[in-house]
Amino acid sequence: MKINGKSTRTIWLGNDGRTVEVIDQTRLPFEFEILRLSDVEAAADAIERMVVRGAPLIGATAAYGLALAMATDPSSKNLEWAYDRLLRTRPTAVNLRWALDRLRPRLLEAESEQREVIAYRMAAEICDEDVEINAAIGRNGLDLIEKAAATKSRKGDPVNILTHCNAGWLATVDWGTATSPIYMAHDKGIPVHVWVDETRPRNQGASLTAYELGHHGVTHTVIPDNTGGHLMQHGQVDLVITGTDRTAASGDVCNKIGTYLKALAAKDNHVPFYVALPSPTIDFTLSDGLADIPIEQRSGDEVEKITGIAADGSVQTVHIVSEGSPVANFAFDVTPARLVSGLITEAGICEASHAGIAELFPDRARRSN
Ligand code: MRU
Repeated sequence: MKINGKSTRTIWLGNDGRTVEVIDQTRLPFEFEILRLSDVEAAADAIERMVVRGAPLIGATAAYGLALAMATDPSSKNLEWAYDRLLRTRPTAVNLRWALDRLRPRLLEAESEQREVIAYRMAAEICDEDVEINAAIGRNGLDLIEKAAATKSRKGDPVNILTHCNAGWLATVDWGTATSPIYMAHDKGIPVHVWVDETRPRNQGASLTAYELGHHGVTHTVIPDNTGGHLMQHGQVDLVITGTDRTAASGDVCNKIGTYLKALAAKDNHVPFYVALPSPTIDFTLSDGLADIPIEQRSGDEVEKITGIAADGSVQTVHIVSEGSPVANFAFDVTPARLVSGLITEAGICEASHAGIAELFPDRARRSN
């Protein structure tokens, strides 16, 4: 994506060829700051504090975390320690485990002097692949937007797309998943307008999705989380596209808390509900998303407090909940496959079902049986 006219990924290798640089997403949209990760602990901390977040970017950061660990101490003991440390950072996005499991066996079989080079090379490959995969998701999803545009009675009326959380460029290495078809449609001159759910409690929609759509020139409107159902009832949403942190082999989709309610409203109003995902987000080991996907519970601070920019330009955090009231902060929910119109993947669009997923990814589906 372009930031101030310059193509920018969300993670890259620093000039010293060792440290890893990321955009500090906790500071957006108010400040654009780059954070340098110089050891595995810094990488783990960046994932935990959500300096980087979004399933594919968590995976890419974890891969570089292992590379940083190998640069310090390439022993097998340190490799296992770093693997466990990184795996514990966040429980829901399966791309974390996927990336770590891709590196670990290759590093274990290599001589320790080779491990640093191999780990950096594999982390860079994961990043480049993520960009390719997301571009393919964009090309596959573009078809849906083009079809929706063709149904508009007045030429030039925008296709209204609702999205939840941030499944954009900032959640991946580039392009995003849910936003990739949107950027492709916009770049092709198809009028699109995006309803951006603010996505309490951390406001990834209002802070991050709005930020990146705005920088790319995509027309959008930020809405409070409970608005989508009303808009759907009044014909103001043509398509819902969300991302996912983990999708079971059955097509059950785990994504940011509140996604399920949007899917229910979409079903009730005959609005197509699509989920865009790279194949590393599919957990082929799980068949029942509702029962088996671990749901992260985060600090109550995120519910009790809100951060914004004050009139004097300073970034401030204020308390918004009645003093003493208990709060709960479930970060994700699961949308059953029956509510999902289709999965937009790098290999094409499929039904959210065992059969649909297995048709697109026969080898991975077979290996997990
Ligand atoms: O808690 P977050 O901000 O890491 O959650 C991110 C999401 O829920 C995204 O929608 C999901 O990871 C898809 S990212 C392409």
